[in-house]
Amino acid sequence: MSCHPKNYTNLVSDYRDKSSSAAKIFRRGENMCGIVGYIGSKNATDILLEGLGKLEYRGYDSAGIAVIKDNSIQVEKRKGRLAVLKESLEDNHVEGNVGIGHTRWATHGEPSDVNSHPHLNNEHTVAVVHNGIIENYLSLRQELTEKGYTFKSETDTEVLPFLIDYYYEGDLVEAVKKTISRLEGAYALGIIHKHHPDMLIAVRKDSPLVIGVGEGENFIASDIPAILNYTRQVYLIDNNEMAVLTNDSVEIMKTDGTKVDKEIYNVEWDVEAAEKGGYAHFMLKEIHEQPKAVKDTLSPRVDKDGMVNIKDLKLDEDYIKRINKVYMVACGTAYHAGLIGKAFIEKYANIPVVADIASEFRYANPFIDENTLMIVVSQSGETADTLAALRLAKEKGAKVLAVTNVVGSSIARESDYVFYTWAGPEIAVASTKAYTTQIIGLALISLDMALKRGTIDEIKVKEIVGQIWKLSDKIEMILNREEEIKDMANEIHTSEDIFYIGRGLDYYLALEGSLKLKEISYIHSEAMAAGELKHGTLALIDKKTPVIAIATQDSLYDKMLSNIKEVKARGAYVIGVAKETNKEIEEIVDKVIYIPEVMDELATPIAVVPLQMLAYYVALNRGCDIDKPRNLAKSVTVE
Ligand code: G6P
Repeated sequence: MSCHPKNYTNLVSDYRDKSSSAAKIFRRGENMCGIVGYIGSKNATDILLEGLGKLEYRGYDSAGIAVIKDNSIQVEKRKGRLAVLKESLEDNHVEGNVGIGHTRWATHGEPSDVNSHPHLNNEHTVAVVHNGIIENYLSLRQELTEKGYTFKSETDTEVLPFLIDYYYEGDLVEAVKKTISRLEGAYALGIIHKHHPDMLIAVRKDSPLVIGVGEGENFIASDIPAILNYTRQVYLIDNNEMAVLTNDSVEIMKTDGTKVDKEIYNVEWDVEAAEKGGYAHFMLKEIHEQPKAVKDTLSPRVDKDGMVNIKDLKLDEDYIKRINKVYMVACGTAYHAGLIGKAFIEKYANIPVVADIASEFRYANPFIDENTLMIVVSQSGETADTLAALRLAKEKGAKVLAVTNVVGSSIARESDYVFYTWAGPEIAVASTKAYTTQIIGLALISLDMALKRGTIDEIKVKEIVGQIWKLSDKIEMILNREEEIKDMANEIHTSEDIFYIGRGLDYYLALEGSLKLKEISYIHSEAMAAGELKHGTLALIDKKTPVIAIATQDSLYDKMLSNIKEVKARGAYVIGVAKETNKEIEEIVDKVIYIPEVMDELATPIAVVPLQMLAYYVALNRGCDIDKPRNLAKSVTVE
């Protein structure tokens, strides 16, 4: 299939918690892919396209609709953004009064027309859109193939129309129930059948789903904004429930058939706020999505016994044993994540790593041969310089491993190995959740390489993986300190220069903290290796110059305290970032942000969060256009 589900079980209870803010409503399980459905007397196509437009933030690598007209299902689906689908619908008119639509964020099966939803059975009697993942799809696929069904796509979703077709004996609701009883995994489904043009069926388990109630028309959607222009009356569907919609009725039942009486929920907030999950900006939403993004990236890569398992990466063991150099190449935030990856690989896999900025790397004379591995890191998978660096390395005989967030992106396609970060679509230009998940990915890759090279034992790997598991909760703890960070932002937002200092991994983190601030607040900022300050930059530190001093590395803590004293002696206003067990810092700095105790190597993905929030609130105080900073683009596809 397509979409990455998980942990949406609490959506409804959050909705119902009248005290919860709009923000909280969506925080729990922001998900990928969006579904929408309509039944009524209007032109379904227009309503589906409008709804998909509101859901595009959930995924945007392909989109499709299926509509019943004159006893047949008409389908149009296209790889690419919604605009591509709209364009092709101008030539291939699809209309009718009942239909389903989908916007996809590929996870299984690259973005392509054929992998796009809706999926249909061979006779085109049933069409299904799906958000979630059918975990047992491989065995179902085999079973259905043996029964004579021919699969066209690489998705897990395609088993659904086939199963419905298989169980269908004239009663669509029964066929859907039987189908659901066979499924493992997560799903929000929209289903139409050409012999039942007066019926739209929706099902939910662990993926979000709401039903909009109109007059003479009804709707389904992954998220309220998709239908808010038509109705504010919604039913919030719980897990293991299904709904049968007609023009004039909505019948909700458990998937075992027991009837469910539900209260209608009246939506009181507006569309724009809802698209951002109630957050003021996508950046803030994405900062808050990090606990989930980290979990989603990690959980498919760890065995039950706590061992790292990235076998799907198919890193060739002989090759990994043989390599004597790694180039870590990326741009911007991805480069900063790569620096942390470098430290991991050097420490655990015992291979020297040269980290370089892609635009520099490609015009240098890198030492590359068949014993070189290049790791490219890229959220979008489309950054022109990173792609060019990758091509150069391949030309010279290296193998390339990509760490990217976009399935089927150019970088993913051209690399020998791909590790996907499951961060979900990142919309804000300033990268946040991509960075944290890139670090998780690189840490896991380094452990896998170390195991293959025999430079680490399984006990140590399990210990580190155990600590990685806890990152998600620790990030959540930091997110709860938002008020403290807002206060700090109030202290520094009028400054003209802000410095970030750190040592070791904290220096790499300082680079990222400083970049975040520059990108969105337009304040001049520099990140310095703290020990290097006195060789020049210290001359810039004056009375009240804000310095963000990162001191999360136990092994460098005392040295860092000395560097902090150096800037304090020149009158700097210092905000320290340290582990909560290292309290001496309080004596020296003006303010301190504590992070939970963690091994040094894993401090970065936690400590970056307050820096992201600090940049955010400084920019907010200055009235900047946070999600779309001036002069910058999310995906830089030109050199
Ligand atoms: C742009 C974005 C940055 C990003 C960089 C690399 O400059 O504004 O946020 O870090 O590109 O992008 P990539 O998609 O390759 O990670």
